[in-house]
Amino acid sequence: MSDNGQRTQRGIKRVWNARKNDISSTHRNSLILEPGPGHFEEHDPFLLLAEDWFGRGSFDVHPHRGIETVTYVMEGRLEHYDNKSGGKDELLAGDAQWMTAGRGVIHKEDPAEGETVHSLQLWVNLPSGEKMTEPRYQNLRAANMPVREEPGAKIRIFSGESGGVKTPTVNVVPVTMVEFRLEPGVTVKQDLPGGYNGFFFVLEGEGRFGREGVKGTERQALMLGPGEEGLPSEVTITADTPLRALLYAGQPLREPIAARGPFVMNTEEQIRQAYQDYRDGKFV
Ligand code: CO
Repeated sequence: MSDNGQRTQRGIKRVWNARKNDISSTHRNSLILEPGPGHFEEHDPFLLLAEDWFGRGSFDVHPHRGIETVTYVMEGRLEHYDNKSGGKDELLAGDAQWMTAGRGVIHKEDPAEGETVHSLQLWVNLPSGEKMTEPRYQNLRAANMPVREEPGAKIRIFSGESGGVKTPTVNVVPVTMVEFRLEPGVTVKQDLPGGYNGFFFVLEGEGRFGREGVKGTERQALMLGPGEEGLPSEVTITADTPLRALLYAGQPLREPIAARGPFVMNTEEQIRQAYQDYRDGKFV
């Protein structure tokens, strides 16, 4: 990607509000990206994005196959148990875990005793040829995360790159995940391959996004308009107040989807097989 070449300026095609739902007295949730079939093509390769505020015991042990989950802990301490790494791990505020479920993991994510965790969990689809890949965990620690710094701007890079600053995060499907913290009046640009789909989620404050400077405020999501496949593109962000926003963007797979519960495959037969394998203890 050339820095002096022409880049398509991305617009914003849709803005929507995330709404909080009470699931129980200790669990509130909002679905920012919904897994419904009508939406999927727009945000392919992403399947869903959920924001959760939860106490200990909200989620039980459960399996996954055919996807990656990217869990970003914004507040609290989240304990993580799984059947692959053979033990317990802990994510602190600012950390993220990139879990490639591949052919199958069984895990549990539980706040530490007495803690309420505020997290975002993204599901990234895996391409048909990689759905049964070997499971893998990458802990992205806040202390080690690459940061792009410009006057009035701090951009944390979970995956992909920003302004030439890269992460070592390993992707199956190429994904750019960055968090912007901007002071009022500051403008930054984020480069993206033209074929990526993507969206912003505003965590705090208010800003203007994309070619037309579309306003986005706390708890709103903004879907990027298209770039041109094979050509570089970029998107502009301007803070009107102190602004904290996440950008998720990735290369679409354009493959058939069969999804049920924690399994996302290409056909119904593969979903039946996933349940069969789980019952037969083949996820261990
Ligand atoms: Co899970």
